[in-house]
Amino acid sequence: MSNVRPNSMARITTKELALKFIDEQVQEIRNQVGDGKVLLALSGGVDSSVVAALLIKAIGKQLVCVHVNHGLMRKGESENVIEVFRNGLDANLVYVDATDRFLNKLAGVDAPEDKRKIIGGEFIRVFEEEARKLDDIKFLAQGTIYPDILESIKQAEGKKAVKSHHNVGGLPDDLQFELVEPIKLLFKDEVRVVGEALGLPHAMVYRQPFPGPGLGVRCLGAITRDRLNALREADAILREEFDLNGLCEKVWQYFVVVPDMKSVGVKDESRYEGWPAIIRAVNTTDAMSATIEEIPYAILHKITARITNEVEGINRVLYDLTPKPTGTIEWE
Ligand code: XMP
Repeated sequence: MSNVRPNSMARITTKELALKFIDEQVQEIRNQVGDGKVLLALSGGVDSSVVAALLIKAIGKQLVCVHVNHGLMRKGESENVIEVFRNGLDANLVYVDATDRFLNKLAGVDAPEDKRKIIGGEFIRVFEEEARKLDDIKFLAQGTIYPDILESIKQAEGKKAVKSHHNVGGLPDDLQFELVEPIKLLFKDEVRVVGEALGLPHAMVYRQPFPGPGLGVRCLGAITRDRLNALREADAILREEFDLNGLCEKVWQYFVVVPDMKSVGVKDESRYEGWPAIIRAVNTTDAMSATIEEIPYAILHKITARITNEVEGINRVLYDLTPKPTGTIEWE
């Protein structure tokens, strides 16, 4: 398959068009891999999930999915991947809990780019170790989508990135796989239509974007387990309240950030030093610029009350009003 989307390719907007695409890709995948085994890093994001479901449909257990839990996932996320793919789709799924390994490497590291490099590098090492344990894998499937291809063309033209984004790739030279990239000519909205047509859960297909380094770039500065846990719990409350109040479809990305600082507060009539939880809720079309969503005060009050009452270590909640630019969407 070429890396250029032909002008004649119709935009996949309906279930019928998605089913046609799925049939074509199933055939193409079978032709490409024959009876060979295919490896896939399955993060649980939309793209890798759709690729997994497509490959399972095409070649079943010839696909080996590896889900690396780097300890920086959101609450319930790895469990959900296991539920949907191992229990629901009977996938050949290797689950690797690498939490300690990542958190030990990150201990004391506070520079954002150093953290990103450690997380990205360690991810490749863990994935590589798993790949070496498996026999005769010839193919590597990737959830590359068309904007990734357009982005790499831009970078090849010398345009500078603001952050080093982490995606799977860059495996060592002696691990030579042939790539299988069945959705590389699709835009995100099309990937979602295909995901629904494949029967993946709505929440997974419409999941908000989540960065490769995960909560690592939202637990600002040097990550500690207690602050990371507080962040994960506060983020789960925010997501639950957005869901209950119908905001998930209206806001493109919403999450909590916890900085490495404490302020003085009061709880049970005693001094209570805690971290602030910063809420960020943005809308954008391409993530290059972003605007701030107006969240009704009543909802913000409820989220504040729940986070400060339910999450150990947090004593304040703030709402970030900064658009992009000047703020980036993530804080690190
Ligand atoms: P920024 O913070 O650069 O983020 O305004 C723009 C969008 O990219 C996401 N993001 C990432 N996605 N790997 C990813 O796959 C990364 O390393 C990464 N860093 C940021 C961010 O969540 C936002 O949607």
